[in-house]
Amino acid sequence: MTRQTGADDTWTNPLRDARDKRLPRIAGPSGLVLFGVTGDLARKKLMPAIYDLANRGLLPPGFALVGFARRDWEDQDFAEVVHDAVREHSRTPFRQEVWDRLAEGLRFVQGTFDDDESFDRLAACVAELDAERGTNGNHAFYLSIPPSAFPTVCKQLSRSGLADDDGDVWRRVVIEKPFGHDLRSARELNGIVNDVFPEDAVFRIDHYLGKETVQNLLALRFANELFEPIWNAHHVDHVQITMAEDIGVGGRAGYYDGIGAARDVIQNHLLQLLALTAMEEPVSFSPHDLREEKIKVLSATSLAEPIDETTARGQYAAGWQGSTEVKGLQQEEGFPPDSVTETYAAITCEVNTRRWAGVPFYLRTGKRLGRRVTEIAVVFKRAPHLPFDQTMTEELGQNALVVRVQPDEGVTLRFGSKVPGSGMEVRDVTMDFGYGTAFTEASPEAYERLLLDVLLGEPSLFPTNTEVELSWRILDPVIEKWHREGSPDSYAAGTWGPPSADALLERTGRSWRRP
Ligand code: BG6
Repeated sequence: MTRQTGADDTWTNPLRDARDKRLPRIAGPSGLVLFGVTGDLARKKLMPAIYDLANRGLLPPGFALVGFARRDWEDQDFAEVVHDAVREHSRTPFRQEVWDRLAEGLRFVQGTFDDDESFDRLAACVAELDAERGTNGNHAFYLSIPPSAFPTVCKQLSRSGLADDDGDVWRRVVIEKPFGHDLRSARELNGIVNDVFPEDAVFRIDHYLGKETVQNLLALRFANELFEPIWNAHHVDHVQITMAEDIGVGGRAGYYDGIGAARDVIQNHLLQLLALTAMEEPVSFSPHDLREEKIKVLSATSLAEPIDETTARGQYAAGWQGSTEVKGLQQEEGFPPDSVTETYAAITCEVNTRRWAGVPFYLRTGKRLGRRVTEIAVVFKRAPHLPFDQTMTEELGQNALVVRVQPDEGVTLRFGSKVPGSGMEVRDVTMDFGYGTAFTEASPEAYERLLLDVLLGEPSLFPTNTEVELSWRILDPVIEKWHREGSPDSYAAGTWGPPSADALLERTGRSWRRP
């Protein structure tokens, strides 16, 4: 396909300042059609984010939100659902005048994905909005629906003319993960979507890229002189990327069973964090240049061999989360008692470039772990020589730079310092930067940023089809192996994963951080 999407030719720096008036911050005339309005994501994240954008004055005056679902609702019913979601989950305070203006642009189309007439009604609704509210033919279609429904919806959008962007208008499609369940299915899916929408009209959401702290990785690395000279195999011993959650997956069996931690989190969020940590400096922050660097580093990344020793997986059994007793996965609602779905996954990646040769990247994620924390820890080698008696440095660890993605967003530097007193004892201390104390303005939610970027046509923070496929290529061997092997190891809820995960690092004389 060669047609253009109407996306702005101009691009903006993903690190741009929200207050920079020179940049096109406010979305132009446009609307959003939301498929999957009754889902959790729509209620907890998308609807509140749309309101928050409206509240911050970043949506165009005639903005329209169209909900599409099977429910027998009128516009008014949909408006009530959006209203309740906004009252319950929005980040910014509720202001009646903002809500009233937003509510004027809410519409609902009742229909099913396989019914031509439903999509014809949707097309008529969109055309009416163009005339009534000045959305000018610019529409994004947000598929917050199971991937099995993507092909039907894409075909319907094409058949009903909704995907056509002739003239000066744009049409974009936003898709949520999972982007397939392995490399083959991801290719198929990309093929189906790209048959209808050219790649520059496809916005794949990885909400981690919308987080301020994740974008700050680029600032930290490329706006400072301090870190880049030591950001390589000469100085870095290893990197640990952790996304730990204390919640379980009760209530999400329909999505999670058979998917598991590696597909749910490592394939997307953690490999994107790896890419941002390990990539070379982009020539510019244009979407092309930024994504090209991520593609290069993902192409150079693979699982460290032998994967029997460099990967681990587990499933949580009953245990304690603080003072609350919690069930094991197999007792959670909707999961079969013999479910083999992993809720913990750890892998070791190697990045085969001159910069990273020999530096292991350990990635781990899990549910029902000790606490909720996402961080990237760059752990440095020990100093080549210590001019102290061994007893003086017993408490001295390795220097580490830790980017805390959440919670307590910030950056910590760990280094050795003299313990006050007449002796010379050296012990680890930390120097801490916290967003909460350094900045007065609160960070926008990831979905606010990403939805606005969709409307602005700024694709930098959205993974391309190539990135998605490369990530599956990295992960496929271990997923296939686990599939062949059946049951994962078990770990008690509230702990830090199965013993096999500890063994994975201990084998190399290292250990996981206890964040
Ligand atoms: C989602 C995963 O992508 O990220 C969930 O599907 C996970 O399983 C969630 O709970 C975590 O997001 P966050 O922003 O709370 O770290």
